[in-house]
Amino acid sequence: MRVALNGYGRIGRSFVRALLEREAGGWRAPFTLVAVNDLGRPEDLYYLSRFDSTHGPCRVPVALEQGADGPQLLLGEHRARLLSEAEPAALPWRALEAALVLECTGVFRAHDEAARHLSAGAERVIIGAVPFDHADAMLVYGINHTQLQPGQRVLSAASCTTHAIAPLLAALDEAFGVEQVLMKEVHAYTSDQSLLDHVHRDPRRGRAAAQNIVPTTSSAIGAVQQILPRLNGRVSGDSIRVPTLNVAMVDLTLRLTRTPSVPQLNELFIRRVDEVPWLIGYNAEPLVSVDFNHRSESVIFDATQTRVQGDMVRVVAWYDNEWGYANRLLDLVSWMAEQESV
Ligand SMILES: NC(=O)c1ccc[n+]([C@@H]2O[C@H](COP(=O)([O-])OP(=O)(O)OC[C@H]3O[C@@H](n4cnc5c(N)ncnc54)[C@H](OP(=O)(O)O)[C@@H]3O)[C@@H](O)[C@H]2O)c1
Repeated sequence: MRVALNGYGRIGRSFVRALLEREAGGWRAPFTLVAVNDLGRPEDLYYLSRFDSTHGPCRVPVALEQGADGPQLLLGEHRARLLSEAEPAALPWRALEAALVLECTGVFRAHDEAARHLSAGAERVIIGAVPFDHADAMLVYGINHTQLQPGQRVLSAASCTTHAIAPLLAALDEAFGVEQVLMKEVHAYTSDQSLLDHVHRDPRRGRAAAQNIVPTTSSAIGAVQQILPRLNGRVSGDSIRVPTLNVAMVDLTLRLTRTPSVPQLNELFIRRVDEVPWLIGYNAEPLVSVDFNHRSESVIFDATQTRVQGDMVRVVAWYDNEWGYANRLLDLVSWMAEQESV
């Protein structure tokens, strides 16, 4: 399958870096990355492919070349055309035979906006976020991705926080029955916030990000109830953006049908980690956020923070909001490339 990337920012570059690091370990992707579209200058995108304040220098060779039809990024085994086109409908997906586009600009998050990649010739598009309105399907790899149907073309891979809480809530619901959940997400700042005070659709996200604890909304609340419909109407909560580069934490306060003890909760996640170690990690050490940087699981359960008070249960977990999410995008794209019927 031929894949193209729209938006070479934090998530776009993390996706590429995850692909390169896995291939350097001997794995071979079942798809080829044929194009990267971003409005940045080629030399700047090349530079950012090699150096990263959060994930360190890229250990896989990357090069920028001038081809007959424009600049190309050589990314390990992949030779991607570097495009600079602001309008998705004008991208050359038909000519490049790009079947799947990863929409990672953060700009085209509504269904019909993302669908412009289809009018440009792609067969499918995955919005790398919760859509502003709806998608034909919202898929969280490891939870519901096998529900993908052939006619569904505008897809969403939900958000990093949805990927973090869905495995926790699915396990808790199966073991003890989830009645009510209040989520608090504590999230590193992202580039949709401002360095200094600016106008923003969310006034708080417009305030100086490196200087403030910023209460805001979390798209994961609605998304997780779509992914796990049994929890519909049972989940609420929000987010706090904090002045760190990367890594997030979720604090879930729950009422469960059968209230477990702290050891029973921790044992549940020890078992889950044994079953799906690539999806859920387990921590029992006194760690802080930076210790979870570059962890590829969707979520890492923190046994040191589990509490039970009366009929209230608290579960805390960490996730690398960039690297965990990018790795699941890579899993999803690879899985789709391997399917014949969807
Ligand atoms: N960061 C996270 O932790 C995280 C986790 C999960 C999901 N997401 C989602 O991923 C998406 C991207 O977030 P991000 O953090 O990667 O943002 P980002 O770092 O700002 O990356 C977006 C990139 O797209 C480029 N771009 C903007 N408009 C474009 C256009 N019309 N055509 C082509 N490229 C364009 C931007 O260029 P300029 O910088 O020049 O505008 C930037 O390089 C968002 O929807 C976000 O919700 C983010």
